[in-house]
Amino acid sequence: MKLALAVLSVAALAGTLLAQPKVATPAPSKDVFSTTACVGCHGVSAMGGLGPPIAKTKLTDEQFMTILRKGRGMMPGTKPDMLSDQDAAILHAQLREMPWDPTQIPLAFKVGSLLTTRNVALFFLFVSLFALVFAVRVLAYWAGNAGLRRLGPKIARFGRGRAAWVFVRSLVVDGLLVASVWRKDRVRWLWHGLILYGFLGLMLADVLMQIFNPTRADVALTHPLKLLPLLSGAAVFTGVLYVYVRYRTDRFIDNGVTLGRDFLFVNLLFHTVLSGFLTMWLNQGGAAGWIMPIYIYHLTSVGLLIATSPFTRFNHAFVAPFLAACTALTEAIVQDEKDLGFLREPSPGRDHKSQRIAEGLLRTIDRDSPDAIRIRYYP
Ligand code: HEC
Repeated sequence: MKLALAVLSVAALAGTLLAQPKVATPAPSKDVFSTTACVGCHGVSAMGGLGPPIAKTKLTDEQFMTILRKGRGMMPGTKPDMLSDQDAAILHAQLREMPWDPTQIPLAFKVGSLLTTRNVALFFLFVSLFALVFAVRVLAYWAGNAGLRRLGPKIARFGRGRAAWVFVRSLVVDGLLVASVWRKDRVRWLWHGLILYGFLGLMLADVLMQIFNPTRADVALTHPLKLLPLLSGAAVFTGVLYVYVRYRTDRFIDNGVTLGRDFLFVNLLFHTVLSGFLTMWLNQGGAAGWIMPIYIYHLTSVGLLIATSPFTRFNHAFVAPFLAACTALTEAIVQDEKDLGFLREPSPGRDHKSQRIAEGLLRTIDRDSPDAIRIRYYP
């Protein structure tokens, strides 16, 4: 035992003595690369893995060190206690010397290289445009049902500026602040708010990130750019879990028409936030091999959430405030004694039931006009 220890310490001493001069003069002869986590993403021959090839890198010392220390996109930064400045310099020199061998570029990288921050931004631009086109169509449909066109001439008499004020005010009060739920049930408002404001927080975080940290370099967990999405994500997640509970406990959750689309929305929201947290957590220092698949899972969830938004319950986020504003405007005009000839609309949210009731009623009174019913309002 003692002998073994002695041999070990001699070996260790020899090791330190031998290693010392190498550290002092950064020479590519020392193999730093294969001992680092870089290998996990950039491949053993530095010809790429999930990250791009970095053999024969042309980056300056400064650029290299910035990327290494701060990270970039999916790549986490490496702190000096993990890799000293000296070793980093050796690593840089070593990478410059490593041969460029295109046959070594793996398929994973070819997939991964599509996921640059720029391509991801382009992807979302495209998905958002797609969603926007259909969202406008959905809005146009409901605007027609709300009789907005008939309101046109009355608005001119009412005053366009005044009408705009009533409309925008309602968008803020009824839409953004969800005043109707607040008046009815504060607890319900809070649960709804967790999702609504959490989601807005996430969107804001992404915009701020794009402005202040476009390369998505590492920032501390306590940094506002990180804190905002963390708290917002937690809020959305809590709210979504509550919705899941309601799907199990609320007997009236099924309105007979939109259940599937509602549930799709909730599920996509769930996966968006879950995958977002996983991505963030893995990026903080987790298993490198998982980062790319989880990141793709995240991008897919967000992409699907946005792309399907005009067709799932997501659309209530813009349809409901819009219709509430239409109602507010109609009411204001009615109160202005320019009566439109109809009283207050039924509250949004029950029109599918109202539709069925109305159809049933009509069938009882008049069997010959089966499809003369068109309910104006949307949930
Ligand atoms: C979790 C995977 C991962 C790990 C670990 C990782 N990288 Fe990266 N690295 C990437 C990805 C992904 C990119 C591309 C980032 C982008 O442009 O969005 C990248 C980019 C780079 C670049 C810039 C390449 C160029 O030409 O633009 C360098 C240099 C680099 N990494 C060096 C390193 C070094 C050195 C280490 C180890 C200390 C390391 N990386 C660890 C994933 C990783």
